[in-house]
Amino acid sequence: MITSVKNAIGYSLRQLIKRKKGVPLIPNESKQELFSHLPLNERKQADVTARQLFSDFHLNDLYENSSADNFRQNLFYLEMLERAFSEADVKIPQNIVAADIGPSDWFYVKALYAALKWWSNPDGREVQLTGYEADAFRVYPNGFSRYDFAQSYIQGLEKVQYIPEKFTRQPEKYDLITMLFPFVFIKDHLKWGLPFRRFDAYSAQIGHQFRSIPATCSRVNRPPDRSEATLVFYYFSDLFFLVKEDRIFLMDSPFKFIL
Ligand SMILES: C[S@@+](CC[C@H](N)C(=O)[O-])C[C@H]1O[C@@H](n2cnc3c(N)ncnc32)[C@H](O)[C@@H]1O
Repeated sequence: MITSVKNAIGYSLRQLIKRKKGVPLIPNESKQELFSHLPLNERKQADVTARQLFSDFHLNDLYENSSADNFRQNLFYLEMLERAFSEADVKIPQNIVAADIGPSDWFYVKALYAALKWWSNPDGREVQLTGYEADAFRVYPNGFSRYDFAQSYIQGLEKVQYIPEKFTRQPEKYDLITMLFPFVFIKDHLKWGLPFRRFDAYSAQIGHQFRSIPATCSRVNRPPDRSEATLVFYYFSDLFFLVKEDRIFLMDSPFKFIL
């Protein structure tokens, strides 16, 4: 109850103040040591997979304009999206209009964009992508908000928009909607400082499905955690289709986040 009230007040203040400090400069870093934390045999495999993703998804721009951590995180998302698209046998139209619900500061937007553009299509597609973030004005210790960082991460991408508002259903507007690692358990949602009333029915429904699934993987280098293992895709007429049990896959990856 106290958490819920505290969260509601904090959230309302963030929405009122709408903190924008400018676009942070994210200096490029060398990618030479990307996998130096891995044992030698895993390092080689990671390198092979990274090179494959680099060429299939045209990652030159990201490679030359990103921190090492951010580049590795994007490799993680790309590996995951590539696998998810294949498992779900997604049909992506040549002119794709897509949305991403809850992108945080959109540190993975280049991976999502590249997956939509290049997955299973060497000629590339026309992509329009919109991110809807309900809590875009959360502020980091350096004073920049998620909104600010998102402006930096989307630089260089055409027809990509970050909307600092909650997603509302817009029938027929989007061909594909992604919701990546959403909060699907109320305890995680509250722990992160979101108000109780913002926990939407979709998330609750997904959480219900996830409850029965063992926690066997995580996207960070720490023990498995169910709330770190959720990847969900929406299609208009086929909500939650990737969370259906027969479509679920568990993924271990050399590109896990390093804490
Ligand atoms: C666990 S974070 C996931 C962030 C990101 N997608 C990732 O892969 O790391 C979930 C995000 O969804 C946002 N969110 C929850 N419900 C939303 C809604 N209906 N519309 C837009 N954003 C929402 C939250 O504010 C939070 O930033």
